Amino acid sequence: MDASKRKAGETLDSADMEKVPYHVTHGSMDPSKSLLDKPSPPPRHHVRGATFWTLLVATFLLLTMVLLRGYYQLGLGLLPLSPPVGFNQTVGRLPALGWNSWNAFHCNINEDKFITAAKRLIELGLKDVGYEYVNIDDCWQVREYRHPTTNQLIPDPGRFPNGIKGTADKVHALGLKIGIYSSAGDWTCAGYRASLGYEELDAKTWSDWDIDYLKYDNCYVPNNWADECRGCVPEYPRGDVVNGTCTNPTGMCPPGYNYTTSKTALRFRRMRDALLAQPRPILYSLCEWGEAGVQQWANETGVSWRMSGDINPSWPRILEILNQNSFYLNNVDFWGHSDADMLEVGNGLSIHQSRSHFALWAAMKSPLLIGCDLETVKGEEVAILKNEYLLAFNQDEYVGPPAKPYKWGTNPDWTFNASFPAEFWSGDSSRGVLVLLFNPYETSRVKQALWEEIPELKGGRYWDVVEVWTGREIGCIDGGFDIEVEGHDTAAFLVTGECVVGKRGEV
Ligand code: GAL
Repeated sequence: MDASKRKAGETLDSADMEKVPYHVTHGSMDPSKSLLDKPSPPPRHHVRGATFWTLLVATFLLLTMVLLRGYYQLGLGLLPLSPPVGFNQTVGRLPALGWNSWNAFHCNINEDKFITAAKRLIELGLKDVGYEYVNIDDCWQVREYRHPTTNQLIPDPGRFPNGIKGTADKVHALGLKIGIYSSAGDWTCAGYRASLGYEELDAKTWSDWDIDYLKYDNCYVPNNWADECRGCVPEYPRGDVVNGTCTNPTGMCPPGYNYTTSKTALRFRRMRDALLAQPRPILYSLCEWGEAGVQQWANETGVSWRMSGDINPSWPRILEILNQNSFYLNNVDFWGHSDADMLEVGNGLSIHQSRSHFALWAAMKSPLLIGCDLETVKGEEVAILKNEYLLAFNQDEYVGPPAKPYKWGTNPDWTFNASFPAEFWSGDSSRGVLVLLFNPYETSRVKQALWEEIPELKGGRYWDVVEVWTGREIGCIDGGFDIEVEGHDTAAFLVTGECVVGKRGEV
C-alpha cells in the first residue's frame, strides 16, 4: 500500500467537476514558507467550461478504468471511486466520525458505557449526521497476561462479560461500527498487554471479533526497538523550540534524516500489514504523537495519524495543538488525515471555545471523535457537534484537502506561536468556500474578511455568504465585511458563489 496507489482513481475529471455544485479556482499558500516538513499534496484539477470532447474522452477513460481495473462506483455520482481491487484499505477515505471512551472515562470502562454511548449517538441524532464509530480505548483487556494457550489478548471478563465480540454484536445491531485500541510496544500506555511481536495474531483476533477500527498507540517500546535518534515534536513550552524548530541537537536526528526506515515506522507498518492481511476492512489510525518524523511515512501507513501528544480539556492545550497542526496540513487529503486528537467539546470548555475547537478541527479535516459523556452533554454542545456546514466540509466527497490559514493575524504569517495561532482560515469545498475568523483573545475583537485576501475568492468582487452557526443567508457581499467576534469564538461563513450586486460590509 503506498500513497500513489491509495490515491489512484481519486482525481476528479471534468465530467465530475460538472457535478460539483460549486467550485472555484483554489489559490494556495506558498508551501516553501512552511516551518516544518510539508510535502505538497498532489495538485487538484480545476476544470471550467469543459467541452463536449473533454467530456467524451473523460467518460471513455472512466469506463476503461472501471472495466480494466475493477473499480466500482460509490453512491450516486460517477466518482469518487474506491481504491483498486486488491488494495485492501477500503475504509478511511474521509476523516473518521464517532465517539471514543478515553477523554470522558479513561480506564473506567465497561460494556454498558459503550452500549449507552451507541444509543445516545442515535437518540441525539449524531448517527444521522454521520458519527458511526464507537471506539474502545485503553484498559479493555486483562492487564498482565495473554491467553496461556492461544496467546490472544483476553477481554477483561468483569468489564466485558460477553467478550469484545459480544459488545461488537450489540454495537453493530444498532447500525454502528466498533473500534479497539492497542500499542506498538509491550504494554499499552495504561499498562495492559499490547501488540508488538503479536501483530498477526492480534489483527486476526480483532477481525474475528468483527472490529472495524484500530487506534494503535506507541507506549512501552522495548530497547531493541528504540530509534537511533528523535524527530522534533515542537510542543509544550520548551526553551529549545524556536519558531517550531527544535534547537538542541542532543539525541535529535540530523536535518534531512530519512524517518521512513526508522524502527518506529517499521513497528507501525507491521500492524498495517497484519490488518491488511485480514478479510475484514479495519480502519488503521496511528497514535504515535507525531514522533519519528511521522509526517514522512504516515500517509503510506494508515489513514490517520496523531500529530501531537494528548489533548486535554484546557484551552491552552487546544490552542497549542491547533498551532502545531496548522503547519502539517499539506499532508492531508483523501485517505490521509492528520489527527489533532479527540474532541473535548462537552468536557468543560466554554461554548465559544467549543465552537472554535470544533470548527477548526473540522476545517483541518481531523478525524472527529467525540470525547464526552453523551448522557450529560448539553444541547448547545450537541448542536455544535452536528453543525451541518462544518460536517459537510469535513466529509466532502469531492474535495480532499483541508482548510488552511491565509493570514495569521496577531503574529506575522508563518509564526509558530502556541498562544496566538493562525486566526484567518479558508478552504474550498463542493458547497463553497469555508471562511473562519478565529479570535484567540479573551474579549471580543472586530475581525475583517476581505475577499482580496482569501486565496479562493480573490478573483471576484461580489460573493454570496451564509452564516455557518445559524444557517442564515446573509446575501451578496461586496468586497468583504467586518464582524465582532466574541472572546475565544470563531465566526464561520460559507461563501456559496458569485453574485451580481453586493452590499458593502454588512453581515
Ligand atoms: C495515550 C493516547 C491517548 C489514550 C491513552 C490511553 O498515549 O495518546 O489518546 O489512548 O494513551 O492510555
